[in-house]
Amino acid sequence: MKTALFVVCCILAVESIQGHTWSAWYDRDNPSGTGDWETLSSQKKLGYVCGGCKPIAAECRVKGSASVFTRWTGSAPDTLAVRCLPTAGVVCKNTDQPGGALCSDYEIRYLCPSTASTWTQFKDRDNPSGTGDWENVSAFRNRDGDNICNGIRPMCTQCRDTSNLNAYYTTGDAFNTGYDCNWENGLVCTTEVNTEVCKDYDVRFKCPNIGTCTSCARWTSWKNRDYPSATGDWEHVGASGHNPCSSKEPIDIQCRVRGTNQNWSDAGQELKTKCTPSEGLVCLNADQTSGQSCLNYEVRFLCP
Ligand SMILES: *[C@@H]1O[C@H](CO)[C@@H](O)[C@H](O)[C@H]1NC(C)=O
Ligand SMILES: *[C@@H]1O[C@H](CO)[C@@H](O)[C@H](O)[C@H]1NC(C)=O
Repeated sequence: MKTALFVVCCILAVESIQGHTWSAWYDRDNPSGTGDWETLSSQKKLGYVCGGCKPIAAECRVKGSASVFTRWTGSAPDTLAVRCLPTAGVVCKNTDQPGGALCSDYEIRYLCPSTASTWTQFKDRDNPSGTGDWENVSAFRNRDGDNICNGIRPMCTQCRDTSNLNAYYTTGDAFNTGYDCNWENGLVCTTEVNTEVCKDYDVRFKCPNIGTCTSCARWTSWKNRDYPSATGDWEHVGASGHNPCSSKEPIDIQCRVRGTNQNWSDAGQELKTKCTPSEGLVCLNADQTSGQSCLNYEVRFLCP
């Protein structure tokens, strides 16, 4: 008992002083088929990545090479379809390479957040007997009035088969795209996608602690890098745009019209990029109806 308490206390102590931690290097595919598909969604079918948390950075390299590239720095020897994105992975398609060359074999590792955060209880809002098992964050919020994480995007999600408490990836069920025990969306398994009745899942969410403590998540100031006078308003995240969290993936984003503070979704404009943490917000003047131009938007990010 004493030993157990000691171990618990010291693991907690180590976690609270350590920074974020790197996963192992993943290499689940070879380029011999259509290319090298090191996607996060495929990796998540084999087990938790970052314990169900959102990866906040990624490093990629050709297997056996010391030359690392990221979303922000370095370069790959091939043309990539997905360039080492923390929330998507790395993808190289053979058809994108010149002269019938095959892609190199890539591997990727993810940086897992140690940001101060709190788990909810396991929750089970639905049964799979109807169209499927709907354990998605928006259903909790909009159908049940359970405002998960006070309306902030969750940082982590874990999902279990309620019949035996085994993790989601052991059940053989297929999940809906983007709802595969996704850190911020939760889980949806429809009979249509799974082709048979889904297991009954419960889910829990880890909410970032926002504040001034050393490991707390923090909001940046409101940022406005562009004006809509040329092609539109480019408040995008990436090498040519915002890098709000020092090359870490933001946990959340808020976007509003500068001046009126109206939320982006109430402004009624057609957006190319709809206020997502990884991509930001992009509004193109050419996409607006009736010759209207884009409004001037500002954005802020919740950094891990
Ligand atoms: C999640 O839940 C909502 C209910 O608020 C539902 O309308 C929506 O389609 C669900 N999303 C997905 C993609 O499963
Ligand atoms: C802005 O709108 C989005 C999409 O409807 C919503 O998820 C978000 O909570 C809103 N933000 C605020 C600050 O009200």
